Amino acid sequence: MVVPYKHEPFTDFTLEENRKAFEEALALVKAELGKEYPLIIGGEKIMTEDKIVSENPADKSEVIGYVSKADQELAEKAMQAADKAFQAWKKWDPAARANILFRAAAMIRARKHEFSAYLVYEAGKPWREADADTAEAIDFLEYYARQMLRLKDGVEIHSREIEHNSFTYIPLGIGITISPWNFAFAIMAGTTIAPVVAGNTVLLKPASTTPVVAYKFMEVLLDAGLPAGVVNYVPGSGAVVGDYLVDHPKTRFINFTGSKEVGLRIFERAAKVHERQIWLKRVVAEMGGKDTIVVDNDADLELAADAITQSAFGFSGQKCSACSRAVIHEDVYDEVLEKVVARTKKLTVGPTYRDNANFMGPVNDQAAFDKVLDYIEIGKQEGRLMTGGDGDSSKGYFIQPTIFADVDPKARLMQEEIFGPVVAFSKAKDFDHAIAIANNTEYGLTGAVISNNREHLEQAREEFHVGNLYFNRGCTAAIVGYQPFGGFNMSGTDSKAGGPDYLLHFLQAKTVSDMF
Ligand code: NAD
Ligand code: ALA
Repeated sequence: MVVPYKHEPFTDFTLEENRKAFEEALALVKAELGKEYPLIIGGEKIMTEDKIVSENPADKSEVIGYVSKADQELAEKAMQAADKAFQAWKKWDPAARANILFRAAAMIRARKHEFSAYLVYEAGKPWREADADTAEAIDFLEYYARQMLRLKDGVEIHSREIEHNSFTYIPLGIGITISPWNFAFAIMAGTTIAPVVAGNTVLLKPASTTPVVAYKFMEVLLDAGLPAGVVNYVPGSGAVVGDYLVDHPKTRFINFTGSKEVGLRIFERAAKVHERQIWLKRVVAEMGGKDTIVVDNDADLELAADAITQSAFGFSGQKCSACSRAVIHEDVYDEVLEKVVARTKKLTVGPTYRDNANFMGPVNDQAAFDKVLDYIEIGKQEGRLMTGGDGDSSKGYFIQPTIFADVDPKARLMQEEIFGPVVAFSKAKDFDHAIAIANNTEYGLTGAVISNNREHLEQAREEFHVGNLYFNRGCTAAIVGYQPFGGFNMSGTDSKAGGPDYLLHFLQAKTVSDMF
């Protein structure tokens, strides 16, 4: 009997003993920096000459690891290995597959801070954000294992005197998991392990700026007893390896999380049926966001200011769920803006690998740094700069938390995903207008409403068109099993990661009717 699911608690860093334990983990990881990592294909470790260099975004001179890079030939080898492994893995008892996830979760829990320390070094996460990322990875393992136990015998359907009918789920085949760098552990692990527990085999292509933490996860899976070839670790260029695998006739599904641009490219390419392909590929594509917090005139304004500040600047705004638009009722606009600016001016920016002092670390890399600063220049034309507006990339990629006021709802700053610490404020003349502004993007991922007016909250429940809507809290930090996560419209396929339907994306239902 499996105990009921409960999410992994977060670490309390106000306690000295927890801070000390985290510092020890950081020291342990520091001693491992600069190692070389192989690909893992069919259980075989393959070192390539050509390497991805994973750097510390808070200190460009520090190398986290040199990671082997798959080319098309190695991607093909991984496809063959996954195909071979599928023949046996699909026949495993689903409960035995789930057990491997439970074991892996326990192993990660025992080395929790070590994984979080990798996220601090490789992704530039502040401690609490790294801790939440690791907790979410554990949650995905625990939750999807239980979901497989729920689905393993299928669903009861009707039989009759003359026949017995059954309805069960079987796996699809070989899938490609393509993951982003911003939840380098949780999303990478969750989008790999969900299809795997459902009986599929996977080629994992992690993001190129965070491949080391993915390798560490691979090690755990193998130590937990996952057979060779069930997950194959193939970091490489999106354009070279990604396109090849997406186009491959043996690819049965693609589980993608990342930008809208890459998601659309995958969606279109996967629609083409290639020679020797005997199925329609399934695509799960979870993409970007342009997420709004609406503040009503009857609202707790302290709560509103906290929610906007945390949601806009947590992990430097590098969350698909981040608040990048604050739409405020005109009656309280000046007051909310002033409170958020005051809170933001107190936020500190700097490295997070030495201590827990800074609220924000760096952005991901030079490309992210340049993109965010370009948007800040656009913001200076489109709005009133209230605070921030600067960056410094001399050592790492640091950008000050930035607020623009009085931005037109149709301006680029209010429409395009920036993916950095920038939030735009717009004034609404009433609640209807606020909801109309909130809905006026092509995205539909998260949103929040801060209001004491129950009628307005119920109106938002109906009219605010996003996959994850929150009342009287921020718009980030969904928890597996509690807030299944996924977006509408150009935010993707609304697959609802961490939700009760998620595994069905990687299963096909089979009906058998047996005549008496
Ligand atoms: P990205 O699209 O640049 O990269 C995502 C992955 O796709 C990486 O592994 C990359 O190497 C790979 N890739 C690139 N080109 C490819 C190709 N031609 N074929 C196959 N794969 C290819 O995204 P990113 O910068 O890593 O992540 C940030 C983006 O992800 C943001 O837009 C963010 O909103 C989004 N995101 C969405 C969710 C969600 O659940 N909706 C969660 C996290 C991040
Ligand atoms: N699941 C993450 C959040 O809710 C992206 O913030």
